[in-house]
Amino acid sequence: MEETSVRCLLFLLSLMSCRTNQVKLNLSPNRSQFFKRDSVTLSCEDEDRSAGWTLRRNTTSKTRSQCGDGWGRPSGSSCTISHMVWSDSGVYWCESMEAAASQSINLTVSGGSVILQSPVLPVMEGDPLTLSCQSKQDSRLPAAFYKDGSLIRTEPGGHMTILHVSRSDEGLYRCNISSHGESPSSWISVTGKPTTSTPPTSSAPPVSSSLHLVFRLLCHLVVFCPYFISTGLMVSSYRHRATEKDLPVSMVMAPPTQAERGLDDDYDDIITAVTTEHQF
Ligand SMILES: *[C@@H]1O[C@H](CO)[C@@H](O)[C@H](O)[C@H]1NC(C)=O
Ligand SMILES: *[C@@H]1O[C@H](CO)[C@@H](O)[C@H](O)[C@H]1NC(C)=O
Ligand SMILES: *[C@@H]1O[C@H](CO)[C@@H](O)[C@H](O)[C@H]1NC(C)=O
Repeated sequence: MEETSVRCLLFLLSLMSCRTNQVKLNLSPNRSQFFKRDSVTLSCEDEDRSAGWTLRRNTTSKTRSQCGDGWGRPSGSSCTISHMVWSDSGVYWCESMEAAASQSINLTVSGGSVILQSPVLPVMEGDPLTLSCQSKQDSRLPAAFYKDGSLIRTEPGGHMTILHVSRSDEGLYRCNISSHGESPSSWISVTGKPTTSTPPTSSAPPVSSSLHLVFRLLCHLVVFCPYFISTGLMVSSYRHRATEKDLPVSMVMAPPTQAERGLDDDYDDIITAVTTEHQF
C-alpha cells in the first residue's frame, strides 16, 4: 500500500522533471560473439548525462563484478577489454547508485575460429535481421545456419537475411563453416512494435518499451501544453491590442487598467516558465 503511493509519487516527480532515467549500454564493435584476443569497448550512456554508472558482469567464475575489478580498463563511463579470453563470456549490464539497471547483453568469446554475427539488442518485429557467419580468415565462405538445433538454411555467401522478422524467429542461433568449425550459440529476441497494440501475452521488453513511449508522450504533453496555451493567449492579446489601435486617440492614450496590467504580468510569468522548462 505504502509502496504503491511512493511509486506513484516517484512517477509524478519524474514526469514533472521529464526524466525517465533510462541508461543504454553501447558496445563497439556492436556484436555479441568475439574471437579470442579481440577487443571490445562497452559504455554506459545515460539520457540525463548524470554520472555514477558502473558496468558490471556475471560470468561463470564471478557475479556482479565491476569493470576494473580484475577485468577491463575503465575510462570515464566506458570500459575496454583488450584481449578477450574465453572466461570473459557472460552477461554485462550498467547499474546506477540507485541500482537501476540497463538492458543486459550476452557476450560470448568463441573457443574456435568461427563466430556468428547477430544483433546484440532485441530486434523489432517487422524489421530485417541479418546474420553473418564469419571465420577468422574469411567472412564470405559458405555457411550453414541453425535455429534451436535444426538447420534452417545454407548460404553460399555466409550471410542470411530475414526481411521481416516475426515473433516466431526468436530463438537460439548458431552457424558452421565446413573445415573451419562451428560458432557458439546466441539468443536472438524479437520485440513487438510499440505503435501496434501488443497482446498482453507478450514478454517483458515490448510492454516496458510501449510503457516508456506512453510516458514520453505524457511528458511532452505536460511540457508543451503550457507553451501552446500561452502562445494562444499572446496571439489573442496581440490581436486585441491591434484593434484597440484603431480606436480614437483619447481611448488609446488611456492608461491600462489594473486588470490588464495584471494579465500582462501573468503572460510574462508563463513565458518565463516555458523558457526555463526548455533548458534541458
Ligand atoms: C547476476 O548474478 C546475480 C547473482 O547470481 C543475479 O542475482 C543477477 O540476476 C544476475 N544478473 C544478470 C543480469 O543476469
Ligand atoms: C543470455 O543467455 C542466456 C543463456 O543462453 C539466455 O537465457 C538469456 O536470455 C540471454 N540474455 C539476453 C539478454 O540475450
Ligand atoms: C556443418 O557441420 C556439419 C557437422 O559438423 C558438417 O557435416 C557440415 O558439412 C557443415 N556444414 C557447413 C556448410 O559447413
